[in-house]
Amino acid sequence: MSLHILRTTTPKRRVPDDQLGFGHVFTDHMLLMDYAPDVGWHDARIEPYGPFALEPSTIVFHYGQAVFDGLKAFRTASGDVRLFRPQRHLRRLNTSAARVCIPPIDETFTLQALKELVRLDADWVPRTPGCSLYMRPTLIATDPALGVHPSRTYRFFVIVSPVGAYYPEGFKPIKILVEDRHVRAVSGGLGAAKTPANYAASLLAAEEAQAKGFTQVLWLDGIAHRYIEEVGSMNIFFVIDDELVTPPLEGSILDGVTRDSVIALAQNWGLRVAERRIGIDDILAAHGAGKLTEVFGTGTAAVISPVCELYYKAHTIVINNRKVGPVTQKIYEALTSIQQGLTPDLYGWMVSVLG
Ligand SMILES: Cc1ncc(COP(=O)(O)O)c(C=O)c1O
Repeated sequence: MSLHILRTTTPKRRVPDDQLGFGHVFTDHMLLMDYAPDVGWHDARIEPYGPFALEPSTIVFHYGQAVFDGLKAFRTASGDVRLFRPQRHLRRLNTSAARVCIPPIDETFTLQALKELVRLDADWVPRTPGCSLYMRPTLIATDPALGVHPSRTYRFFVIVSPVGAYYPEGFKPIKILVEDRHVRAVSGGLGAAKTPANYAASLLAAEEAQAKGFTQVLWLDGIAHRYIEEVGSMNIFFVIDDELVTPPLEGSILDGVTRDSVIALAQNWGLRVAERRIGIDDILAAHGAGKLTEVFGTGTAAVISPVCELYYKAHTIVINNRKVGPVTQKIYEALTSIQQGLTPDLYGWMVSVLG
């Protein structure tokens, strides 16, 4: 498939890196591609960023048949621009798509098109360390008709947003509410797919938690309301008795790319790592015995988010005297150094947009 490029004739003014925040500013261009049953994916094109028209009857508005992913590009000290594990993000996009009957995109072609998009908008990649370019590949069902069944037609688009440093003043440990009423997902449901329904399911609990002064909620499993799942848009790790523990991928949580990277780094350093079920009661017991030393979340946006407090029913679990622990710090530094090209990428995670 060829990629048609229509450059903007009215480039936007860049926003200074220290005013970027997350997800409000978009670059000059976007990538688009359409699907129809007789021709498959076709008409790949880069166009100026802007609205597109869909009929109010379009399937995605009614039945939520859509998936997305989120990945980042970084400017390295040498001036190169590199994507962090784009193949794994595109593979996950297709895995999510399969769960809601959306036909897969060609990952190799899409990676080339993504690189082209970033090359075109290269000036938008922030220069300040810690800032990056966030990419949002999205697949939506576009048939203009009601009735619950998979759409015949689809649109793929990628929008790109320069984002600010998550921790401009250094790490800010977060307080998390362990959610014991609302449920995000169950095994066999949609939890492992990056599909909008999961985020809609999370909003009420997150709003309630924020009103009580917490940053996010930690989800428990939907059946026993006991086993730890994940945080808002992050996977979760615990350091218990010098072992790094994270819940297993059993169908209700997202297979995080950062999660996978953290496990690879920790194993390479010789740390004991376990992917196993952990009950909230196990966490309380480990804390009571002085064995729970660190808790952190992992995700593309923040990379690593130290947790200083978990609140469950009437229990407040203060972690490591609210200070960032050594494992959390070491993992954060290792990952961000690889992303910024400051240390060698032994894992082949970084993909240059120039190649
Ligand atoms: C529900 C959920 N869990 C976990 C993650 C972390 O995944 P990743 O590390 O691939 O960003 C995300 C973010 O994408 C998410 O939305």
